[in-house]
Amino acid sequence: MVKINRRQFIILSAAGAGVALVGHQLGQGTISSQTFPESSVNLAPLYQSSDGLLELDLEARERLVNLGGKQAYLLTYNGQVPAPRLEAKPGDKVRIHFTNNLSQPTNLHYHGLHIPPTGNADNVFLRINPGEKFTYEFEIVQNHPSGTFWYHPHLHGLVAEQLFGGLAGLFIVRGELDEIPEIKAAQEEFLVLQDFALDEGGRLFSSMHMSLMMGREGDLIAVNGKINPSFSLPAQGLLRLRILNASPSRFYRLSLENHSFYQIAIDGNTLNKPIEVKELLLTPGQRADVLVKGDQEPGQYRLLNLPYDRGSMGMMGGRGMMGRNNRDVPIVLATLNYESTVESLSLPTKLTSISALPEPQTVRRFELNHGMNPAVGMAFLINGQPYSGDRLDTTVKLNSIEDWEITNTGVMDHPFHIHVNSFQVISRNGISESLPAWRDTVLVRRGETVRIRIQFRDFAGKTVYHCHILDHEDLGMMGNLMINA
Ligand code: C2O
Ligand code: CU
Ligand code: CU
Repeated sequence: MVKINRRQFIILSAAGAGVALVGHQLGQGTISSQTFPESSVNLAPLYQSSDGLLELDLEARERLVNLGGKQAYLLTYNGQVPAPRLEAKPGDKVRIHFTNNLSQPTNLHYHGLHIPPTGNADNVFLRINPGEKFTYEFEIVQNHPSGTFWYHPHLHGLVAEQLFGGLAGLFIVRGELDEIPEIKAAQEEFLVLQDFALDEGGRLFSSMHMSLMMGREGDLIAVNGKINPSFSLPAQGLLRLRILNASPSRFYRLSLENHSFYQIAIDGNTLNKPIEVKELLLTPGQRADVLVKGDQEPGQYRLLNLPYDRGSMGMMGGRGMMGRNNRDVPIVLATLNYESTVESLSLPTKLTSISALPEPQTVRRFELNHGMNPAVGMAFLINGQPYSGDRLDTTVKLNSIEDWEITNTGVMDHPFHIHVNSFQVISRNGISESLPAWRDTVLVRRGETVRIRIQFRDFAGKTVYHCHILDHEDLGMMGNLMINA
């Protein structure tokens, strides 16, 4: 019988693993001592800035966690899946003392934040080796939009694997949207959606067993690291959900029984006014902020993930074992209960005012497809080329405005994402977009052409754009973007 020491006990119980499970696991002798590292594990679920500074230690490492009652060896930040939520305000400084205790190199990307792509800010070209430390430091500009952003690893070639291990967390910028009285009165919940594929022993399936062509998907879908958690929705009240798709490949098509969603933000960016939708499609990387009205009979309502067909490789390789369940049946992700009753709360009418970008100085075309690469086999391509670290694919001028016309000539959908600056969708297949919105990731379905307009504001330097199905990104569907001052 293995003895449990006090520190091990604290780590496990603080992470929500039951004492009974601890005893069971230890009794079987399945835990090796390296599962419980000597370094201290900080288990704060939330870090907020104070006096203009958000400062924290963040450690990436493999760890045994409790995932919906199962013991799973996942990749964690500070021992947690999802990672701790970070919250800052416009004007704040952010300082993250990062330690890589993974067995692979890694780095951090701040998805959706408008910060420099260089130095020790949102620099995806950094490589932090196992055992190394690095301090990230940047400022969130005073006019930074408030919203739901996130952080995750971004070392080309390992991104899908590391996200699939669980490395992802929310980065909230608190600001003007949160001050609107109706929204302030709403009850706020955060939903981080992740999927996992585990073997009997709770180990992550290796990529050998997955369809990387489609992009890896797992059968276990977790909301905030839990399987079918419950949320309470005040009867007559408003619930504000901030939803993040942190899965490497899975699309979520969400619907809440008997309820509409009133969407107030897309990809962290506030909409002009709430938009009523019955379903929300979230591709990897995307976020939605929605309000839900507690105006139905008190009871239980299920949040469902409906089937969505994002294409397939057909004859070229099949869907693979991991892609199968998303297409056929709805899956229950979470349950909402009406609990208390509050005085009836109303929806906000106006949220912000989005102005359209002026006409572009340059129009560029990007073609998304896949093909064979003599060196690596199957490759995912932009304009016929797989990603190469030392090639500059697109060079733009700081502050210039461009239209990018992105055409998908392949057989699968691709969510296209650009770092550092958000953009506006101008048209889809030549039909103008009716919803004015800023976003950082846009779905380009097979056969579609999507035109976006972007201004390269404030920050010069080299960064990337890519498909946010992260296996596609790792297999080449990414380009280097140089923003010249
Ligand atoms: Cu969330 Cu370059 O990615
Ligand atoms: Cu990003
Ligand atoms: Cu893709």
